[in-house]
Amino acid sequence: MKRLAIGITAAMLVASIAAFASGGWAVVSVAKVPDAWIAGKPLQLTWQVRQHGVTRIDGLRPTLEARSGSHRVEGRTWAFNEDGQRGYRGTITFPEPGEWQVTVHSGFGRSRAVLLPWRVVDSITPVRGTVEAHLETAGLPVFSEAERGRRLFAALGCVTCHVHREVGIKGEVSGYAPELTDRRFEAEYLARFLANPSIKPPTDGKRMPNLGLRDKDIAPLIAFINASSGRRVTTR
Ligand code: HEC
Repeated sequence: MKRLAIGITAAMLVASIAAFASGGWAVVSVAKVPDAWIAGKPLQLTWQVRQHGVTRIDGLRPTLEARSGSHRVEGRTWAFNEDGQRGYRGTITFPEPGEWQVTVHSGFGRSRAVLLPWRVVDSITPVRGTVEAHLETAGLPVFSEAERGRRLFAALGCVTCHVHREVGIKGEVSGYAPELTDRRFEAEYLARFLANPSIKPPTDGKRMPNLGLRDKDIAPLIAFINASSGRRVTTR
């Protein structure tokens, strides 16, 4: 039994090295993550899987899970193809409020997206006023632009290639790209670069892939990357 276990472990190791050597890694980008996660209400997520951040991979069988302490729940996933848009979607329902961490397993090797832990709240109490006032009164999270960016940095898969100390999720090929913790950029340049990284000539033959970021994602990413160093971006 023990020998079998060692055999299996060795085989898995060989398989994962082979997968890595053949370039078997992918960037899993979860987009349009809502701020407010509510217990008992299905949360829908949409994601793309791109080998090396470049080539979209179809036909995968992803799984979606969320953990809070010893609690674990699974979601439902499917592939979509609408009006020329392809990708994957899933829904997951949190049985109770608390800090929940969601992982999207892409179905392609070990490639996955790990979201930062999120506070799942009870329910919305309808109130009048702005959306923020509404959420705040209901005790729902209202993220600053920089905090939203920090969460997107994990969700969109920037952590696959880049290390950032404020995010603290280790990606599949972290170190492939420069660490960004202490880097600051001119905002206008960064907006252009993130929308189209090919404006920068490759460094050491490496180039940042175009992850199809939306302007809505780019603004919070810039706020996060350029947030003053050493200051933890607060949740509220
Ligand atoms: C597939 C790996 C990969 C992923 C995923 C990735 N990057 Fe990069 N990124 C790179 C590489 C490689 C470079 C270095 C490019 C260069 O210097 O020409 C880079 C450079 C950068 C730079 C520095 C630009 C400069 O002018 O020096 C920033 C900022 C950046 N990435 C932000 C992001 C953000 C934000 C995300 C997520 C939305 C992200 N990256 C996802 C590979 C990646």
